[in-house]
Amino acid sequence: ATSFTSVLKLSQMGVARVPKRYILPPLQRPNLGLCVNPTIVSPVIDLSSFHRPIHRPQIMDELRLACKELGFFQVINHGIPLSVMSDALDTATEFFDLPHEEKLSLASANIHEPVRYGTSLNHAKDRVHFWRDFIKHYSYPLSTWIDKWPSNPQSYKAKMGNYVQAVHALHKMLMKVVFESLGLSPNYLQEEIDDGSQVMAVNCYPTCPEPDQVLGMPPHSDYGYLTIILQNQQGLEIMSHDKKWYHILVNKGALVIQMGDQIEIISNGRYKSPIHRAGVNSETSRISIASLHSLALKRKVGPAPELVDDQHPLSYKEGSFSDFLDFVSNKDIMEGRYIDSLK
Ligand code: SIN
Ligand code: FE2
Repeated sequence: ATSFTSVLKLSQMGVARVPKRYILPPLQRPNLGLCVNPTIVSPVIDLSSFHRPIHRPQIMDELRLACKELGFFQVINHGIPLSVMSDALDTATEFFDLPHEEKLSLASANIHEPVRYGTSLNHAKDRVHFWRDFIKHYSYPLSTWIDKWPSNPQSYKAKMGNYVQAVHALHKMLMKVVFESLGLSPNYLQEEIDDGSQVMAVNCYPTCPEPDQVLGMPPHSDYGYLTIILQNQQGLEIMSHDKKWYHILVNKGALVIQMGDQIEIISNGRYKSPIHRAGVNSETSRISIASLHSLALKRKVGPAPELVDDQHPLSYKEGSFSDFLDFVSNKDIMEGRYIDSLK
């Protein structure tokens, strides 16, 4: 068993100052001494356009450009009903509102645990902690894992389960388009994707009395091939080419689609796995639900042979999800990214 204080509890106690273990070194603070981070509206892809043959080439170009330059975009008309999204956010909110002691029964120090309530990232290793509580759970195939999910709130399994299935179907559709946009078959890696993993990271970023001193999540890129983020308000920030951080403005009802390290590797560097982080604020708490899709734990991933040529020499060694977990369990998050060790 493991024990810790949740950030939500600190926030609800109404602390006027953030405890020292959450305070970032000055250069890593969100605003780096500048006034405010600029905001960018992320590229918006209307997925209904893929069903209209005349629009398809133009949408494919927009998607390719977004993946190359930023590594993310948002989608609208993605087919997931608003009610399914808001039910998932509601049941997540109810989960975090349970007494901390009850949630602690799902806590574990082992990052391989299929259902895990926690805060910060790696208690043993991180020198600085982060202003976030989370529950992560394996989610695919749903029938294998759903019994292990929280049984309180009572609606959790049904509401989160509906969203999980809808987002899994959306990710399969998106991967066909992503592979096609790279000049690969839309069915590229289809069997591996069917055998792959889906982990939901359900995050709660409580209000914070000193949001300029902390982060909800430190800079990182996602290890899998694709991440789909649902959120009830802004908070996601992305590092652009110019090495500056940008707040991401997201349309209501839209989902954020992020490329992960595995797609940067498969594409041999054509597509970027963006470095991102989560900021917090003093007025409203935020919930985000990230659906993290990756190939099976032991499946080694390298660049697609079709994407290696004289102009694009092989740029990455092979790695697996399991290698990534070994890497992060031995390191402080601030010490560097797994993907950089493969270059
Ligand atoms: C993530 O990095 O997985 C999610 C960040 C967020 O809360 O938007
Ligand atoms: Fe992430």
